Amino acid sequence: MATVQVWDPLIRIFHWTVAVVFVANYFFNEKGGDLHIILGYTAAGMLVLRFFWGFVSHGAARWSDFFPTPSRLVAHWSSLLRGDGYRRLGHTPLGAVVMILMMSCLAGLAATGYMMEETDMFWGVEWVKDLHWGFATTLLGLVVLHILGALYESYRLKENLPLSMITGRRRR
Ligand code: HEM
Ligand code: HEM
Repeated sequence: MATVQVWDPLIRIFHWTVAVVFVANYFFNEKGGDLHIILGYTAAGMLVLRFFWGFVSHGAARWSDFFPTPSRLVAHWSSLLRGDGYRRLGHTPLGAVVMILMMSCLAGLAATGYMMEETDMFWGVEWVKDLHWGFATTLLGLVVLHILGALYESYRLKENLPLSMITGRRRR
């Protein structure tokens, strides 16, 4: 079957780094411990790279390729309602909304983590901790939605989308 390269290596490394860091930091390591902080900053560093990559790369990684403008969202939504087999080689507008929200939660986690860990002013301050927890738990909800969306779209399009985040390739 003819396939084309859609996700470049940086996107894939970014994706699986943030996925592993999220699961490790939310479920497994000691909250606020060394590993938690190192992994958290690693994800934050990848996020900064990904942000700039969206301006200098080509194809599906570019913000302009997938940014969910109102007209793109309306077109995607109406196409889903009509059931006319919407498909594109890159993020869908509704999928992109969830991705941008996930990226914003990661940025919020890095900012509040930094405030708790590196500043005197916010050390031990309750609302900063609560906000950190809020970003983490909102991200958990978004991740569940994201995974269900990826599985549903894979079923609808008869195409293995999670695999495409590993190989980078999709059906032409
Ligand atoms: C993917 C990124 C991250 C996730 C999912 C995450 C998740 C969490 C969660 C769920 C808690 C427990 C919150 C609570 O029960 O109140 C926590 C605590 C904490 N996190 Fe993170 N975190 C991340 C990144 C970071 C970063 C980048 C830093 C520091 C630079 C950091 C520093 C801390 C600290 C110091 C605590 C302990 C707060 C306390 O004293 O209760 N985290 N984190
Ligand atoms: C566990 C935490 C996860 C997080 C935080 C996460 C986050 C993200 C982000 C930020 C993107 C956008 C990538 C970019 O443009 O740079 C993305 C894309 C994607 N993710 Fe995840 N992801 C997670 C887990 C998963 C899992 C487990 C799967 C597989 C079931 C998956 C499948 C995908 C797919 C297929 C795309 C591309 C979507 C498309 O075709 O438009 N993700 N993810």
